[in-house]
Amino acid sequence: MGSVSLKIGDGTARFRHATVCSSAVHLLMLASVLITNLFALYAFTSAPSPSVSSAPALLAHRSGSGQRNLSVISEHVALIIREIEASERRLHQIERELAGYDTLDPAKPSLPSELKLFLARHPLPLGRDSRSGITEMVASVAHFCARSPAADLLARYMSYKPAAPCPTDDPLLPQKLIAKACEPLPRRRCLTRRASPTAAAAPRLPFPQCLWNPGAKNPGGGVYGVDRQMWVKPGGKIDFLIDDVLALSSRGIRIGFDIGGGAGNFAARMAERNVTIVTSTLEIGGKPMNEFVAARGLFPLLLSPAQRFPFYNSVFDLVHSTNALDEGGAPALGQASHPEALEFLMFDIDRILRAGGLFWLDNYLCADEERKRMVTRLIERFGYKKLKWAVGEKANGNSSGKTQVYLSAVLQKPARS
Ligand SMILES: *[C@@H]1O[C@H](CO)[C@@H](O)[C@H](O)[C@H]1NC(C)=O
Ligand SMILES: *[C@@H]1O[C@H](CO)[C@@H](O)[C@H](O)[C@H]1NC(C)=O
Ligand SMILES: *[C@@H]1O[C@H](CO)[C@@H](O)[C@H](O)[C@H]1NC(C)=O
Repeated sequence: MGSVSLKIGDGTARFRHATVCSSAVHLLMLASVLITNLFALYAFTSAPSPSVSSAPALLAHRSGSGQRNLSVISEHVALIIREIEASERRLHQIERELAGYDTLDPAKPSLPSELKLFLARHPLPLGRDSRSGITEMVASVAHFCARSPAADLLARYMSYKPAAPCPTDDPLLPQKLIAKACEPLPRRRCLTRRASPTAAAAPRLPFPQCLWNPGAKNPGGGVYGVDRQMWVKPGGKIDFLIDDVLALSSRGIRIGFDIGGGAGNFAARMAERNVTIVTSTLEIGGKPMNEFVAARGLFPLLLSPAQRFPFYNSVFDLVHSTNALDEGGAPALGQASHPEALEFLMFDIDRILRAGGLFWLDNYLCADEERKRMVTRLIERFGYKKLKWAVGEKANGNSSGKTQVYLSAVLQKPARS
């Protein structure tokens, strides 16, 4: 079966830039391959040179020593060929490392048996599918799962007793793996333990009361807990109100996506206006964010910032995001500052928005002036109509007395042919 090639995460893996050091090693390897090749050429062409008069003469007069010389030469050539092959293998390895291509080899003995089982090809139960021509399915995990230290974490994650309760040793393990771009996680054959017993014991109110009384303790402060002010109480000029934004859409807003929506306050306000919002939220610091959003009667989606949105094209009327633009650069992968990292996210937002749909960039923190220019340029390149655009300064929350620049915008996706 060999090694399973890993499909997801291609883009992010290729995105890694070669360091100066690895480029130098690369060049060195190239040079060594070139030199050994030249050396081989030299050995082939120059060895018989003492008697170049004619081949029969060489054979007739000097057959004894010629034979020995020939065997010495062929030994040298064999050595050179081995050297070239080794260099090529090393070069290939370096190329793979630079490109970020690692694979999880199911034949590797150190791999937990449950992971091997998961990665094994599964023949379709009813044989070949006549429409797609597919005969078997391959389970895939992201490239980054195969890299250290994700590989070690993954091995730990997949070491458990099948059909028994899942291990409790590290409840943050899945989150750690996702933060290392090891996503989607493999399925496991163990029973999940109840995340927070208190939430399950509390009385459950019906919808819509549950939006503001989910019967669970706030998982955190600010956007990570219930907030009754945002988007309904007038704030600064960069704090748009939900009703103002909804009024901007001529065809109406029915369904939307809130990227990095914390405890789901945005979705709750929208639910009050009969708009369905899917909230992507991560279990940051082991806080039960997804459970909390669900307890409010809202749709939680566990999704890492680097992942392609699991939605079809042009399905949303609205995409809302605060600082997801930065997270799209997946700081864990060291990409936060690359303009292309932002583009990957912007193109994906554009993909899931319908023509005429709204992208609400809400209180985006511009780390510096250059960042603000970069984001502005990027948005303008997409040709969105600026329905609202405001730049303002706010105190940065701690007592240092400094202010920071924020950008808020409501942008309408143009119809494209
Ligand atoms: C190879 O040939 C050269 C020139 O004929 C001779 O002097 C030398 O001894 C030979 N070398 C070996 C290892 O036989
Ligand atoms: C939401 O829908 C309900 C029932 O369909 C309706 O009674 C209510 O007025 C709607 N709310 C808004 C803000 O449209
Ligand atoms: C306040 O915030 C700024 C910028 O976010 C940061 O550089 C600084 O260290 C913070 N100061 C304190 C006292 O936390």
